[in-house]
Amino acid sequence: MCGIVGYIGDKNCVPILIEGLKRLEYRGYDSAGVGIINTTECKVVKTKGKVSELEKLVYAEKIQSSLGIGHTRWATHGEPSTINAHPHLNEEKTLFLIHNGIIENYLSLKKGLEKEGYKFNSETDTEVLAHLIDHYLKLKHSLFQAVRYALNEVEGTYGICVIYKGESDKIIAAKKGSPLVLGIGNNENFVASDVNALIAHTKQVVYLEDGEIAEIFKDHFTTKTISDETIIKEIFQVEMGIDEISKSGYPHFMLKEIMDQPESIFNSLRGRLVLDEGISKLGGLEGFEQRILDSKRILITACGTSWHAALVGEYMLEQYAGVPVEVEYASEFRYRNPIIDKDDTVIFISQSGETADTLAAMKEAKKKGALCIGVCNVVGSSIARESDAGVYIHAGPEIGVASTKAFTSQIAVLALITLLLARRKNLSLPEGQEIIAEMKKLTDKVGTILKQNDLIKEISEKYSNARNFLYLGRGYNFPVALEGALKLKEISYIHAEGYPAAEMKHGPIALIDDDMPVVFIATKDSVYDKVISNIQEVRARKGRILAIVNEGDTQIEKMVDHVIKVPKTHNMLTPILTVIPLQLIAYHIAVKKGLNVDQPRNLAKSVTVE
Ligand code: G6P
Repeated sequence: MCGIVGYIGDKNCVPILIEGLKRLEYRGYDSAGVGIINTTECKVVKTKGKVSELEKLVYAEKIQSSLGIGHTRWATHGEPSTINAHPHLNEEKTLFLIHNGIIENYLSLKKGLEKEGYKFNSETDTEVLAHLIDHYLKLKHSLFQAVRYALNEVEGTYGICVIYKGESDKIIAAKKGSPLVLGIGNNENFVASDVNALIAHTKQVVYLEDGEIAEIFKDHFTTKTISDETIIKEIFQVEMGIDEISKSGYPHFMLKEIMDQPESIFNSLRGRLVLDEGISKLGGLEGFEQRILDSKRILITACGTSWHAALVGEYMLEQYAGVPVEVEYASEFRYRNPIIDKDDTVIFISQSGETADTLAAMKEAKKKGALCIGVCNVVGSSIARESDAGVYIHAGPEIGVASTKAFTSQIAVLALITLLLARRKNLSLPEGQEIIAEMKKLTDKVGTILKQNDLIKEISEKYSNARNFLYLGRGYNFPVALEGALKLKEISYIHAEGYPAAEMKHGPIALIDDDMPVVFIATKDSVYDKVISNIQEVRARKGRILAIVNEGDTQIEKMVDHVIKVPKTHNMLTPILTVIPLQLIAYHIAVKKGLNVDQPRNLAKSVTVE
């Protein structure tokens, strides 16, 4: 959620913090702040609004320092405002704290501190922690110990960075449930909530684990657990380049990421297809295949767009691998004490690998002995690290808040998992080879759809005044309908619902009139004729229809207002193609409405609080 960045070294930290915050702004963007400490002053600058607002204020102050921390917020406790923005301070304004997460027992901690005479300015849970650390500093503990003691009293989640005038040679960073990564430089060190903020400066990183606390100096760092045991951390090399996190000339990250899909899908499949044997090769699942196949069932859990990918996974795994599959929202799974045991396999799908509910669901499943498989995009993320086995989707960094290329790559990887398991069961060699042949054509087929961008824009703009939308599909296109509706809601703020086309009769049909656009995803598959009947039902009620059809389909074209054509592919790969026009429709409608596509209101890219 919130973005965190910290610097200690010889350079002026201000541009490093501002640039880092801009790279993290997709995590939260309702307010932002920086805190710096130098030999003459301790200074905090914060503001409601975007990092660009903060930037103006900070540069106007002309502050210089080689020690500082910065934060971009997604509000949980207390409205977005300058007072509630981070850093939070002690009363002497000598200690600064930034925090991502939620301190659940903040009210009881606050009461105790108020009795000691501490005064609070903000409505946040974070300010409590700043005063609690101050309380331990006043008991003559070092900053490290004061933070450690304070954290031992905290219930909830945190990724924090603390700096203090009295010990201005260090940043203290600690993690529980919210990601933090150290960047190791040459006579300078960094800390951030994700590597995007670091890679312009260093590729050497150290991932903090839950319950760990680091003391970061400019030329070295040490790590302990919060119960004070020393731990030696491994340094990893990040492969990602800075060009991968820029817009490359596109007006928005979202459009860039939609357009990236021929390449991102290619990267998801690269080196994983064995045509001769009609099977996939997934290093991260090696040695686990039989255990998965022997599972009583496979559960797939996720949130948001990743949950829609999970539904596609359910259809393909059941149809081709013949394993019973259930899909559940991670937020439900984690709290309802699900019946799972060591004979179950649970797949966790997460672009960021940091979504709090998905991570908590994984902990729950692990506790119960299930085999936990991560399907993540962000390399080194918490879910990727904590799973027993896993497959990276290799879609490359996704910055736009509305997920696009991660979705198509998640489906590509689920298809690879399906192929791997299905071939070990009943899928024949020719069938396996046919799937692989179709997978290899995806890059070109996606390219064909993207070439229709101008047409899709023209059609989309005709619908930009609509107040409601219905998305309908059946079979593999039902999760696509859900995803199309979600994309539209997320970035255009138009109410949209996705439904299995046949279910329309059980309610949504009441909404249909000549004002109601209905998007049908109607490719030539086993339920094509049934979808045509559903189209007729909408037509009879004068709904406006936009249909996603296969190339060469002339039947539907005659019945509807607009069609967008996609190439035909293997049925389980269909969602990869049919979702692309829906991503573009949402994008063009939002742009037409003048909305901030990459940072839609109230949303965040990586939801690290529950
Ligand atoms: C947020 C994002 C969505 C994303 C969901 C799950 O809601 O805005 O785009 O699908 O989280 O995120 P994950 O990183 O776990 O896939």
